[in-house]
Parts: sequence; C-alpha cells; structure tokens
Amino acid sequence: MGPPAAICARLLSKSYGAVAACDAVDIELHSGEIHGILGENGAGKSTLMKMLIGLVVPDSGTILVDGSPVQISDPVVAASLGIGMVHQHFSLVEALSVWENVALGDSGRLDRTAVRGAVGEMGERYGLHVDPDARVADLPVGLRQRVEILKCLRREPAILIFDEPTSVLTPEESDELFGSLRNVVEQEGRSVALVSHKLTEMLGVTDRVTIMRNGRVVERCLTAETDAGALARAMVGRDVRLRSGSRPSARASAEESPSTDTRPAPVLEFRGVTVAESRGFVELDDLSLVLRAGEILGVAGVEGNGQRVIADLLSGLRSQTSGDVLVSGEVIDVGRLGATIRAGVAVIPEDRHDSGIVLGMTVAENLMLADPAAIADRGVIDRAAMGEMARGLIERFAIMCTGPNAPMWTLSGGNQQRVVLAREITASPKVLVAAQPTRGLDVGAIEYMTDQLRQVASTGVGILLISSELDEILELADRIVVLYRGEMTGEMSRSEATREKIGRLMGGDLT
Ligand SMILES: Nc1ncnc2c1ncn2[C@@H]1O[C@H](COP(=O)(O)OP(=O)(O)OP(=O)(O)O)[C@@H](O)[C@H]1O
Ligand SMILES: [Mg+2]
Repeated sequence: MGPPAAICARLLSKSYGAVAACDAVDIELHSGEIHGILGENGAGKSTLMKMLIGLVVPDSGTILVDGSPVQISDPVVAASLGIGMVHQHFSLVEALSVWENVALGDSGRLDRTAVRGAVGEMGERYGLHVDPDARVADLPVGLRQRVEILKCLRREPAILIFDEPTSVLTPEESDELFGSLRNVVEQEGRSVALVSHKLTEMLGVTDRVTIMRNGRVVERCLTAETDAGALARAMVGRDVRLRSGSRPSARASAEESPSTDTRPAPVLEFRGVTVAESRGFVELDDLSLVLRAGEILGVAGVEGNGQRVIADLLSGLRSQTSGDVLVSGEVIDVGRLGATIRAGVAVIPEDRHDSGIVLGMTVAENLMLADPAAIADRGVIDRAAMGEMARGLIERFAIMCTGPNAPMWTLSGGNQQRVVLAREITASPKVLVAAQPTRGLDVGAIEYMTDQLRQVASTGVGILLISSELDEILELADRIVVLYRGEMTGEMSRSEATREKIGRLMGGDLT
C-alpha cells in the first residue's frame, strides 16, 4: 500500500431535480500524477470537480484529503486544504491588470511589488510568462488562461483541477501548458486533475484516465494501456468516427468544378478587404476571397492571424478600413447595426460564452435570439410557439437540459454550445460563418456537427469554416485558404491540400 491519495471521493452524488449529475462517483487523485477525466457533454465532469473545490455541495458521499475526511463547504475551505481550480470559463476582471487579478481575493494590504515579483518568478518556473502590468482586457485568450493558472498556482495548491483548460488555446499554447503541468506534478509532486474532450491530450498528457457517462464512472484505465478508439467507445458507449488528417475528404472527387460557368453563384465575397487598427497595425491585409453556394471554404491559420477579424466583420462588430464585402452580389455596409444578419449571414462565434449566449435567459429564449420575428405575432412573442420550436431543436441537436424553460446557466458547457450551434444552423442563412465550431464538444457531438455542417452546405448554404484545427479543415472543406499575419498566403482545393503544405503556409513560408 502506497501513501493515501492526495484527494479521494467516495460515493459522491449530486442531483438537480430528476437529473443525477453525479451518481455515486469514486475517484482518487495521486500526488505526482495527471489524472484525466473524460466524458460526453453533460456527463457530470464539471459537477464532480465543483464538489472537490466546494462550489457544489454533495447530496451524499465523502471526500478525503490525505486520508482524512473533510467537509469542503466553499472554495476558501478548499484553498486551505490545498485544492485549487482553473475553471472552464474565465473568472478574471478585465479592467484590472494581471498582477491585480492574481492578487484578487488576498486579504490585507496588497503588496504590489511582491505580487508582481511572484508573477515573474512563477512565469519563469512554469514557463507561463505574462506581463504583470498588462490589462487583462488587452490580452488574447491564451495569455488570460495563463493568468488564471498563475492565480491558482500562487496559492501553492497540492491538488490542481483544470476544467477544459485548452478549449480556448491554440495547439501550441496547449503544448506549452502541458509542458508546465508535467513540471508541476513531477518536480513538485502536486496532483493534477484534467478535464478534457480531446483524446489526443488525454493520451499524450495524463497518467491515468477516468471516464464518466450519465453521472457515473464507466471506466478507469492507465493511459499507457489504452488508445483513442477505446477511450471514445467507453465515453460514448458505441463506436465513433475519429478524425484523422490523412483521411480523404468525402467530397474530394466532386469538389472541382469543370468550368467557371457552371459553378454556383458566389454568396460571399471579400474584395481587397483591409482592416487596420487605430495604431496602424494591419489586421487584415487586402484580402480577397469568394465563397459559393453549397461550398465549404476552410480558413486555416494559427489563431490570431486575422481569422477573428473576418468573423467580427461578418458579425457586424467591426468595419473594414477599405475594400468591399458582398453578400449575394450586393455590397454590405457591415458596420451598420443588423446589416449582416439582414443580408443572410449567420455566425457561430468563437467565444460562445462571451458573445453567443445569455446565461440568465432560458434555453428557449437563447434559441430564438437570432430571429425573434419567427415566433412573434405583431411584435409580441408567442410563448407557446417559442416552446414548440425550442423543443424541436432540443431534440434534434440532443441538447441535454430539463426543457425549453431551463435557465441557460444550468446547462453543461458543451450543451450551452449546442444551443448556439442549433440556433445559427437553423436560421436558414445564405452564409454560415462557423468559427471553431466543434471546440468544447465531445467526440459524439463533433461527429454530429460535422454531419450537420455538410448537410447544411448541401442545401446551398455557403459555409466559411474558420478553424485552427487542421484536421477539421481537411475533413470538411472543399477549398482552403491560409491566413498568415492578416494576409492570404495560399489557396487550394481539398485535393491539392496536404498537412505539410498548409502547415508551411500557416507559418508564412511561401517557398
Ligand atoms: N446548477 C445546475 N442546475 C441544474 N442542472 C445542472 C446544474 N449544473 C449542472 N446541471 C446538469 O448536470 C449535468 C452534468 O453537468 P456538468 O456540467 O457536470 O457536465 P460536464 O460533464 O461538465 O459537461 P460538458 O462537457 O458539456 O462541460 C447536466 O445535465 C447539467 O445540465
Ligand atoms: Mg463541463
């Protein structure tokens, strides 16, 4: 018998009404190990982690820290027991600086010099560098994530819980994060729990994996003794199609159009679109592209190379400095309120939690945000029609919730995303902009979404698929453009595309 687990849950249960979010869950986290927690959207992962950190009080069951039973009534108690958590969604105060956020919750007088010093020292130790004086609002998501982690590490927790830390990170940022996590467990003997949907992360980073389904633990295994297929099967309860970059596109043969004349009409055009920031920095540089009806155009690139600006333009959140944006052949004044929506552009935003949903509203209300007119009678919302429509979408997109009237905040992270996807896909747009559409979804849902996007395209909708996941682009897109520093570095059909070629263009290598 080795030392007792750093933290151990016995028969931990939590129900919300009729939903058993966690049902008699047993789990042990050991020092010096990264323990992966895998499961479908709504499986109960976040609920389990929240019970360990004292955000959710269990209905029954026991938690032991270093072998002794404890009552974790709130996060302050958890912190005193050496447990820290980095949440699925950020909890930073945007208006404050990095060091102020890190110090938030400290009692007594703030020691600016000490906290700034700690930020620098920890950045060095864990490879999590970030400017202590930067304002959080000015930081890209990858750096915000670092701040969140530093804030947690500063309290020197023995047990660190990460709930989907990489759902907002680029692959490079994820690799860096995992490098730091390895140090944290191996050199400092801490224990890490990592919730993630990404099977490659589970396999590459963890020491052991616990798989949950419908609130229960369905499997436990050592990472070295499993593989992606087995994990996916255990998680979903059936065989699933897994993405692999080498698989040819399902439509590879049909994608090339024989001549210009027979190609479907363009639904979206960018003509020399440039977006320059006030400081003169060019975010989008003379971009021209054409998206045709029924086509899926993949926009590849390392995040932060102009993809965001394209989505923002088409959401009407920003305007171009020069050039034209056309929808169905007509020039659109994208900066005018509602202009892009009226022209028939639907957008699945990248940060669905920030701009895609309203947590305080119900599922039904969130579902109708895109087109309230559809269920209104002379300006008055028809509640019955709204409920009816919502029930249909909840069923079709397998959204796990208690019904149309469930408040949005009661849904699991992945199910909140499904609400946004359902709403935008069914808005019958001419152009669907899908930014990182499968991020945060479990493998079963990814399979479903992939089919949905194909199906929507087959009805004549042009899809602009913005993704930093090359495999996603290679699986779905008919044509691919690559962005690097706001400029298009390449354009090719799916059949001409290889990972190597796109990878080079993503790095700005035009040779
Ligand atoms: N405060 C709450 N009120 C009502 N139901 C809730 C609440 N919190 C969670 N649930 C329900 O409990 C179940 C488990 O949710 P949980 O957030 O733990 O899932 P998850 O495994 O983290 O999923 P995801 O991968 O989508 O983040 C879901 O059905 C969810 O709707
Ligand atoms: Mg969750």
